[in-house]
Amino acid sequence: MFDLRSDTVTKPSKEILESALDAELGDDEYIEDPTVNSLEDECANLLGFEKGLFVSSGLMGNQISLLIHNDPGTEVITPHDSHIKNYEHGAAAFLSRVQFRDAEHVDGELDLDYVEKLILKSKVHKPVIKTVSIENTHLASGGSIVTFESIKSLSNLVRQHELMLHVDGARIWHAILDGNNNMNYGSYCDSLTFCFSKALGAPIGSILLGSEQFIKEAREFRKKLGGGMRQVGVIASMARIALQNREIILEDHAKAKKVYEFLNSSLNNEKIERIVYKGTNMIFLNIKNEEDPNKLLDILYNESIKAGLIGEKSIRLVFHKDILNTDIEEICNKLVHSSSKF
Ligand SMILES: Cc1ncc(COP(=O)(O)O)c(C=O)c1O
Repeated sequence: MFDLRSDTVTKPSKEILESALDAELGDDEYIEDPTVNSLEDECANLLGFEKGLFVSSGLMGNQISLLIHNDPGTEVITPHDSHIKNYEHGAAAFLSRVQFRDAEHVDGELDLDYVEKLILKSKVHKPVIKTVSIENTHLASGGSIVTFESIKSLSNLVRQHELMLHVDGARIWHAILDGNNNMNYGSYCDSLTFCFSKALGAPIGSILLGSEQFIKEAREFRKKLGGGMRQVGVIASMARIALQNREIILEDHAKAKKVYEFLNSSLNNEKIERIVYKGTNMIFLNIKNEEDPNKLLDILYNESIKAGLIGEKSIRLVFHKDILNTDIEEICNKLVHSSSKF
């Protein structure tokens, strides 16, 4: 079975698992686990922030950021199809009790004039806007890269209006390693979270980055949410190896590109309106409105391909380290064969 539902399905390599055996450990609730402390420092240094906090998941990092940046009843501007709004089990309503204000965007890059209009309109009848949250890479657009230039311009606007800028960088390394090499997020953003447990191949964990004061508060919220753990170095050591090997994700981009080029020239089914590839590790097959994408998902499953559904009509194929280069030809043939039966 080829599992293309997500890059979260990647399993840790032997090298990653073995690193846990030799990890130096301590009680992280007392900030005494040297492996965790050094991972937090390393991530903060890499992306230009003062401090880091190891958290159990991307969701926890995103939601702690909202808890700190917002008060109940205030608003967060974000792309209408962002993960933080749509795919976090209503956590923002449950925890920080904020509302989301949809922003127009192209491939995850917000329209700044529109954002400014939203901010100015927030006076009188509309709630106060406290935070802007973007996603890089932007999942719902097909894993598109939000350019660093656009982040700088957004940061400028956000700072003019004294708001906070959060980056859901679950897949930030896909954006950084593929061309957009500026890593100095800390100079332009107030908080950022990224995940070790997706394409990088660690089994668990994410990092939350921000100022010293932000991380102090984040540590308290993590505790309140039950995310304070003890000898976390066993997990952090695995995350560290995964991070060191981060260049592997460029191979995923190459695999996705190869499949995209093949599908583009060979897949011919009018029920599939568009094949979307945004240069990272995902391909979307956009299914025509009147057609049922679940039918194609079932056909693919019977051909030993697990694929995911994103939104109502997009079938998502994600390439990751557990899909080998030698699998690609077979996957291409299976995709074309399945679509001919759809
Ligand atoms: C863009 C994005 N943000 C946040 C998350 C949440 O990460 P986690 O599953 O670790 O909570 C995901 C998970 O897939 C994601 O794709």
